[in-house]
Amino acid sequence: MEPVTHKYLKILVTGASGFIGRKLCYSLAEMGFEVIGLCRNVDHPFLLQHRNIQYVEGDILDQQSLDAAMSGCYQVYHTAAMAKLWCRNEQDFFDTNVTGTKNVLNCALRMGVDRVVHTSTCGVWGPTLNLPVSEDDPRAVGFPIDYERTKYLAELEVKTFVKKGLEVVIVNPSRVYGEGPITDSNTVGKMVSGYLSGTWHFIPGKGITAANYAYVEDVVQGHILAMTKGRSGERYILGGEDICFNRFFSTLEQITGTKRKLYRIPIELIKTFSIMESIKSKCFGFQPYFLPEFADRLKFNQRYSSQKAVTELNYQITPFKIGLQKTVDHFQNK
Ligand SMILES: NC(=O)c1ccc[n+]([C@@H]2O[C@H](COP(=O)([O-])OP(=O)(O)OC[C@H]3O[C@@H](n4cnc5c(N)ncnc54)[C@H](OP(=O)(O)O)[C@@H]3O)[C@@H](O)[C@H]2O)c1
Repeated sequence: MEPVTHKYLKILVTGASGFIGRKLCYSLAEMGFEVIGLCRNVDHPFLLQHRNIQYVEGDILDQQSLDAAMSGCYQVYHTAAMAKLWCRNEQDFFDTNVTGTKNVLNCALRMGVDRVVHTSTCGVWGPTLNLPVSEDDPRAVGFPIDYERTKYLAELEVKTFVKKGLEVVIVNPSRVYGEGPITDSNTVGKMVSGYLSGTWHFIPGKGITAANYAYVEDVVQGHILAMTKGRSGERYILGGEDICFNRFFSTLEQITGTKRKLYRIPIELIKTFSIMESIKSKCFGFQPYFLPEFADRLKFNQRYSSQKAVTELNYQITPFKIGLQKTVDHFQNK
């Protein structure tokens, strides 16, 4: 994107140490904005340093720290979330994703912020049955997964604040992959680095269910485009190509030139294993490797259309093979 001519405009990014937020901070800083990166630890190893970024310690559950960080900012990107499959205390999903979002929006409204981009997820639609889902489609199933339920509830908060007069645009990334640290939300990074190191050994089911893969740099640019061109109160899917597991791993094989022995594990077996993991986790409190509700999810496609973002925002999609090549290069160079 073009560097901005109106320098010294202050922008707040929440979740500055996250897989997406850190790159968003950096891109905005490169454009010439003065970026305030809200994070819980200013010495976090994932923070990207740039002369235009100032990291400020704060928590979206602590109103005072939010007020201090947002003061003087004219735009806010709210990426912070509990973006994981599991946490010890289920209430944390609600607190971070719903109450935290409400706090950010409340603060933005009070401070007279011009615009907010709220990062949601395609998880608000969950599994897709036939055609790729687009923004106006309803959700086809219930909400067995706390992350998806609370991200959906956060979108309802956004709608309430839009009615109160705050300008908020929602973006819904699909499964994000690319260069970056392996956080709990970077599940594709785990698959790629596991394949490279030879520690990834399985393909779920017959490998034919498809998910939508969004390259992280596209998602970052999509956020910035949503801020400048998005319509308040609207949501925009920021995705990429729909790829099944078989194609995912055959593309990895092509790119790396390395053929790994991968075993096709029946979904029912994964489910049995994940039920045992879930019981162990409930009894002993440690993180399960997989959960039954995610095993069920492996039976369905998660196909999403980014057409609205392409048409309205000029959102650009990096071909999967190119994005995956860059991801592999990143992990190999590390
Ligand atoms: N990655 C994906 O595939 C994907 C797909 C769709 C949507 N999304 C959405 O994109 C957004 C960013 O995800 P991500 O992949 O960057 O996740 P991530 O790497 O897990 O980052 C989450 C960020 O939120 C911060 N955070 C959590 N609780 C906080 C709190 N109470 N106060 C302040 N900051 C807090 C974390 O800070 P700490 O470092 O201190 O924990 C971290 O910086 C999320 O809203 C997620 O729902 C992600």
